[in-house]
Amino acid sequence: MNEGGLEAARELLARVRRLAVLTGAGMSAESGVPTFRDAQTGLWSRFDPMQLASPEGFRADPPLVWRWYAWRRELVARARPNAGHLSLAQAAARLDRLQIVTQNVDGLHQRAGSRDVIEIHGNIVRSRCLEECGLVYERPEDLPPGEPPRCPGCGSWLRPDVVWFGEMLDPEALHAAEAAVTGAEALLVVGTSGLVYPAAGLPMHARQAGARVIVVNPQPTEIDSAADVVVRGAAGVVLPALLARESGSAAG
Ligand code: OAD
Ligand code: ZN
Repeated sequence: MNEGGLEAARELLARVRRLAVLTGAGMSAESGVPTFRDAQTGLWSRFDPMQLASPEGFRADPPLVWRWYAWRRELVARARPNAGHLSLAQAAARLDRLQIVTQNVDGLHQRAGSRDVIEIHGNIVRSRCLEECGLVYERPEDLPPGEPPRCPGCGSWLRPDVVWFGEMLDPEALHAAEAAVTGAEALLVVGTSGLVYPAAGLPMHARQAGARVIVVNPQPTEIDSAADVVVRGAAGVVLPALLARESGSAAG
């Protein structure tokens, strides 16, 4: 971890009362949930994203995609929030507002106790009808049998309630995410490569609205150029050090 970055980030957060946080797969890496683009370990270095995470891929082979998400759902169910997730949940208690915008579908922020979480790529625990009949299952245990199950409402397939490549984000979630990052005094960007839009555009929107931007990532990212401070390190190590309580504000 680059100490200089950590100290500069703590100073920057010293007077912040309204904090927004944008998280990506790196936020959950220390919880054992694989990222997408890390060499060798990343899902997209092992699996074809167009075959497994696109509407076309699902229609081409629904059982293959369903089973892949069932495997990922198992992984997520076994995972535990890490020290990074927990420190964000604790920091919220002493700020006027801490809003988390996450690209992750693992629900680990909520399991850590964070209340104000905007899931812009959906959630892997939920399932919904492939067509527009709008049926949604909040829990896997409520699902009808089948891989994938058929929709009781219209007979089509049920699919994971996550955003796939080529699909639009839920406009309400995107609008809430924009409002969260432009309404904050500072934005923490944690564990994202900054390669997938519209999420990757949020830090620049925050900056244009006057917010200070801090990137937390062990590797260089596309977003570093929009940052006031970059802290090279792992989320589970940096966030507790960055948000450690010393007084009433976000840090320091
Ligand atoms: P990526 O896999 O593209 O990037 C993960 C980032 O986390 C990389 O920059 C790593 O350097 C960093 N990282 C790894 N371990 C870390 C740790 N312990 N602490 C902090 N950072 C760490 O994942 P995302 O940027 O989240 O979307 O990917 C964005 C979207 O692409 C995902 O939401 C998913 C994917 O395809 C859809 O499927 C729509
Ligand atoms: Zn249906």
